[in-house]
Amino acid sequence: MKILMVCLGNICRSPLAQGILEQKAAEKGLNWSVDSAGTGSWHIGESPDPRSVYTAGQHGLDISGQRARQFRRQDLQDFDLILAMDQSNYQEILRMAQSPEEEEKVRKILDFTSDATAGDVPDPYWDDDGFEKVYQMLDKACDKIIATDQ
Ligand code: 4NP
Repeated sequence: MKILMVCLGNICRSPLAQGILEQKAAEKGLNWSVDSAGTGSWHIGESPDPRSVYTAGQHGLDISGQRARQFRRQDLQDFDLILAMDQSNYQEILRMAQSPEEEEKVRKILDFTSDATAGDVPDPYWDDDGFEKVYQMLDKACDKIIATDQ
């Protein structure tokens, strides 16, 4: 199973989502490959935002080795499941899909949780206090994603 987490910058939300799901998959002994990307190009090659690195660290996760990259059309072929953080990312990815098979791979990550408010993981970039909330949302969603494999 190959899963790609996608947000806008690939420095705040999707690196956290990648780290969380990688850890849960490893704990369950699942042979999953998890990656992340951003629909935007501003942060290509950068480390995750220090606030994401800090928040992950508070939960025993080290995401500092990740580097940002931009989402590309090829990802729709290479991955089994592509999880967008919000509606804007979701639509941007769907716009690049070239077949119904590719479209079916694309979901919003909070579709996996029932308590989603508006279905979007809020962008914490401009909100120092938003990172822990984002972590909790992603942690719950990743538990559900892992559970779908049982
Ligand atoms: P992310 O957050 O999409 O969760 O990585 C953002 C990071 C940077 C920008 C926007 C969102 N930016 O505009 O540079």
